[in-house]
Amino acid sequence: GPALFQPERPNSQGFDLGHAPTLSRIEAARAPFLNHSWRASPLLACDAVPEAPQTVTNPADGSAIGTIAQASPQDVEGALAAAVGWDAPAAERATVLNRAADLYEEHFGEFFAILAREAGKSQPDAIAELREAVDFLRYYAANIPDAKPAGVFTCISPWNFPLAIFTGQVAAALAVGNAVIAKPAEQTPLVAFRAVELLHAAGVPRAALQYLPGPGRKIGPALTGDARIGGVAFTGSTATALHIRRAMAEGCQPGAPLIAETGGLNAMIVDSTALPEQAVQSIIESAFQSAGQRCSALRCLYIQDDIADDFLTMLTGAMECLSMGNPWQLSTDCGPVIDQTAQDRITAHIADARAQGRVLAELTAPDTGTFVAPTLIEIAGIADLKEEIFGPVLHVARFKSHEIDAVIDAINATGYGLTFGLHTRIDDRVQHVCDRIHAGNIYVNRNQIGAIVGSQPFGGEGLSGTGPKAGGPLYLSRFCAPDRQTTGD
Ligand code: NAD
Ligand code: ALA
Repeated sequence: GPALFQPERPNSQGFDLGHAPTLSRIEAARAPFLNHSWRASPLLACDAVPEAPQTVTNPADGSAIGTIAQASPQDVEGALAAAVGWDAPAAERATVLNRAADLYEEHFGEFFAILAREAGKSQPDAIAELREAVDFLRYYAANIPDAKPAGVFTCISPWNFPLAIFTGQVAAALAVGNAVIAKPAEQTPLVAFRAVELLHAAGVPRAALQYLPGPGRKIGPALTGDARIGGVAFTGSTATALHIRRAMAEGCQPGAPLIAETGGLNAMIVDSTALPEQAVQSIIESAFQSAGQRCSALRCLYIQDDIADDFLTMLTGAMECLSMGNPWQLSTDCGPVIDQTAQDRITAHIADARAQGRVLAELTAPDTGTFVAPTLIEIAGIADLKEEIFGPVLHVARFKSHEIDAVIDAINATGYGLTFGLHTRIDDRVQHVCDRIHAGNIYVNRNQIGAIVGSQPFGGEGLSGTGPKAGGPLYLSRFCAPDRQTTGD
């Protein structure tokens, strides 16, 4: 049938209901899953002996949506012993991955439902996420290198793209013929479980893809520091990436690759020649879409002093139009943050800024679940931010025209380098800033989220990641045996 989620669509906004199935089809396909309860447990190539099932809850209201039986230490050992690489010819692996992409598309209603109820994804976010997952499957299937696999690959993913990033890592490792042990984030095991069931249904052998849910701190070290592991693909926080690097150095064979995609302190510069309406729209999307829970999200806006007062009036007006609520509702722009721990951490940061009189605007959050209201905080500069605040909080600093190089230096001095945005109508300035800024993905006169697989390879430098970029031409080489690996792009 016709593909609902075409790969590599040139959609610069990252989401667009116009490219998705019609609203009535979405509603009809999601409806059976409004009260559905999912039950997930390890999917291994040996008998699993998991822990007792735990309840998985909806961050929008705390209601139960299913159960997860976490893998036991015995299951980790069983999965490592049972892992067998996928030795089918490359053309057959590609066919199976494309078939999995078809199955993902067919199950769009269930995926939209589970992404809303488990991960708090708004409907546009869920559409973009499923499309990105499908894009990864098709892109890697179409670009399999002629090379040997690295062996057993551990894939560890975060909760904020629990389908797209989970699928991207797994599809890349499988495309090359590795055996994969996939560990989803604790907060979002159910969507990953359904993804693995569909990958198996498409024809991926069970010994080549095992699903191993569990707390990272508990089962992570055994999954990353073992001599049987040929490589690790990790996406998550910079702190966890450093733990994994240490575990690999102690336990893996020398040369086993770590592909780490991590956090950011992402900035945008808006100068006095920017188109204000366009810049405001870009900022709203970059800072508050997905409730700010994107590694790519804008954290620190630098606004030129001459236009700052009027611009911030426009920006706070636009913020006030954001609708917060249950992500299942199509009217929702901004859903909950993922859990109580995240809510507590972000609200403590806001409370601290409030006590210092630096909060410029703050919406009111629903009092169910784990919502945080979009908030605007004034700071002197990005050096004031000591860590990534992973939620709907935007910091704003003013700069004078002659200070632009100092602003660039301050952004680079954070050590991160994931996304960067620039709004200006001065061509020389575009060149000047882009030549100096250290960031993996630079966006000019648009938002800075929603990279498209194939046409906008995504990944950072410095504390933001190792490269090569996901969804780009060099990514698969890193999943190959050491003589074929490429380190960055
Ligand atoms: P996290 O680092 O807490 O967890 C990520 C994964 O690592 C989870 O599956 C977790 O269980 C596992 N883990 C935790 N400790 C481990 C250990 N010691 N050994 C092995 N695995 C372990 O991150 P998170 O809170 O789930 O995700 C948010 C973070 O991810 C943010 O920092 C965000 O910027 C980053 N992120 C980066 C990208 C990117 O492409 N650069 C994309 C999405 C998210
Ligand atoms: N790839 C995701 C984005 O670009 C993280 O927003």
